[in-house]
Amino acid sequence: MKYSVIALSLLVVASAGDAHAKAKWVIGMSQCNLGEPWRVQMNADIKKAAAGNADIEVIFKDAQNDTLKQRAQVEEFVNAGVNLLIISPKEAAPLTAPVAAAFKKGIPVIVLDRRVLGSSYTSFIGADNKKIGMAAGKWIAKRVAELAAGGAKGRVVELKGLMTSTPAQDRNSGFRAGIKAAAPAVVDIVFEADMKWLEANARKEMESALAVNPKIDLVYAHNDPGAHGAYLAAKAAGREKNIIFVGIDGLPQEGQSFVKQGLLEASFEYPTGGKEAIESALKILGGKTVPKEVTLNSHVFTKANVDKGGECL
Ligand code: FRU
Repeated sequence: MKYSVIALSLLVVASAGDAHAKAKWVIGMSQCNLGEPWRVQMNADIKKAAAGNADIEVIFKDAQNDTLKQRAQVEEFVNAGVNLLIISPKEAAPLTAPVAAAFKKGIPVIVLDRRVLGSSYTSFIGADNKKIGMAAGKWIAKRVAELAAGGAKGRVVELKGLMTSTPAQDRNSGFRAGIKAAAPAVVDIVFEADMKWLEANARKEMESALAVNPKIDLVYAHNDPGAHGAYLAAKAAGREKNIIFVGIDGLPQEGQSFVKQGLLEASFEYPTGGKEAIESALKILGGKTVPKEVTLNSHVFTKANVDKGGECL
């Protein structure tokens, strides 16, 4: 017990200097990586929401896209005796045990954006990725039907996020259901690959897709960095003007900006939930109960609506 108190004070002093060293509650935030703008934004949203509250101190750890590192960092937070844990896990299965262990020790856990397996946590906060995937599928089916000449199917590439993470699974299954809902069938998936959420991988996969497909009508990428990587590959091949690009995330400085520039035709918003995580954390620490599941709303941004704040899904 003594060790925990010492470790916790060290954590607080090391991260906060003197200003908040006397915070009543310490929140550990385990971020799976900070390599993408969306995750930087999530941390910024958390910081901003916590800033005005002298009762809490948030300590951030970045697992640098390394599952084992993230497991170890969760354990460090638990050993240090944080009062609450927020985690945005890289992958579902490998992070399930450390999250459950924290929860079983009595540390409230908020799981943010990507899920773990089972139900050993306090609350999950995130947008509905199945719904987003489904909306993207319907949007894409409608869009390629407009293009189709003489009933030809739209030739579509799907660049998936990391398929061991739950948003990728849901954005895939939702999308497939969305295109299936279109009758008659208008979408032909001519190439699919797991780009693991990373722009550089998406660019490489798209180079392969272009090499084997003389005609591609549209690329659906599970996030905006993926859509942008695909766009860059198509541009390098001189084919970007013949292909429509659709992504997910819709950050103002990324997806929305790509839509305004005409690089993407649509970006589906995936809110970070940073602000909501702090709101829930404060309720939990204050002894109130919070819902097991908090579902955030999402919008679609297109050239026609991006200046008006997008359209609600
Ligand atoms: C960032 C990111 C986002 C995506 C989210 C899904 O790491 O890939 O682009 O929407 O994770 O968890």
